[in-house]
Amino acid sequence: MPARLLDGVAVGQAIRASMRPEVEAFTREAGRPPGIALVLVGNDGGSELYVGSKMKSAGESGIRADLERLPATASIDDLLRLVDRLNRSDVHDGILVQSPLPKEMGADAERRVFDAIDPAKDVDGFHPTNVGRLVQGRASLVACTPSGIIEMLDRSNIEIAGTRAVVIGRSDIVGKPMALLLLNRHATVTVCHSRTKDLPAVAREADILVAALGRPGFVTKDFVKPGATVIDVGTTPVSDRAVIERLFAPGHRRLAAFEKRGSLVLGDVHPEVEEVAGALTPVPGGVGPLTIAMLLKNTVRAAQDRLRARG
Ligand code: GUN
Repeated sequence: MPARLLDGVAVGQAIRASMRPEVEAFTREAGRPPGIALVLVGNDGGSELYVGSKMKSAGESGIRADLERLPATASIDDLLRLVDRLNRSDVHDGILVQSPLPKEMGADAERRVFDAIDPAKDVDGFHPTNVGRLVQGRASLVACTPSGIIEMLDRSNIEIAGTRAVVIGRSDIVGKPMALLLLNRHATVTVCHSRTKDLPAVAREADILVAALGRPGFVTKDFVKPGATVIDVGTTPVSDRAVIERLFAPGHRRLAAFEKRGSLVLGDVHPEVEEVAGALTPVPGGVGPLTIAMLLKNTVRAAQDRLRARG
């Protein structure tokens, strides 16, 4: 039986709909809507698209979103000054500095900038204070992609407590917070990475398998226990026809999309996994829409917490 497809668009819409009363209550009480500042440095095409859809979703949810742009030639000090101004802004409850930053800013630029954001406004959940709170199981603002995956599992009635969970990938943005969230929900968690020996055998133990390594089609059938839930976090743009034709059998619906556009965004999970998994997130339309929904949810949470802290 083919896997149940977990619909991220529908879950994302449900999350945003459930936020509406909270946005309205906050706006009444504070005399202004919750607000987020999105900082975009330079004009990376992918980042423009991401930021555009975040702005649109915020607007539709009654959240104020302001785009703050800096040129690609801006210095790290220019960016730190902007972050400082936004930290002190009354109308911005959340700050998101879009990654990646221009290479010219230096190798440690992202870390310096994320560290400079007020933890109370850190809607990405990247600040060490918020990561520390997550480790201790008392987080308020958590990285959006992993917390969206937990929402997706909950809203799809997929049990977490007591299960074996395997996370492939150990990034600060997805792999590590994902492992902690699953652990806090009482899963038995293994984190795999490039040095893991016999990765398919470890992955096959999983009831919940999260693939977040950024290698298209890496997770094949032999990684998956029959009936397991498979979450695909990969979003790699591919325009190489040979790669596409290796992954998709003739007649597959995604081949037509490739012919039309000349490229596809591919997940880390091979299409053949649909035949063995119990449930599976598609790419696109799986995890992606949840990330934006959780960013908005974090913004409302930050707004409420800041209002309460003022008394
Ligand atoms: N670039 C791609 N995804 C993200 C994200 O979730 N947060 C930030 N700050 N940058 C990103």
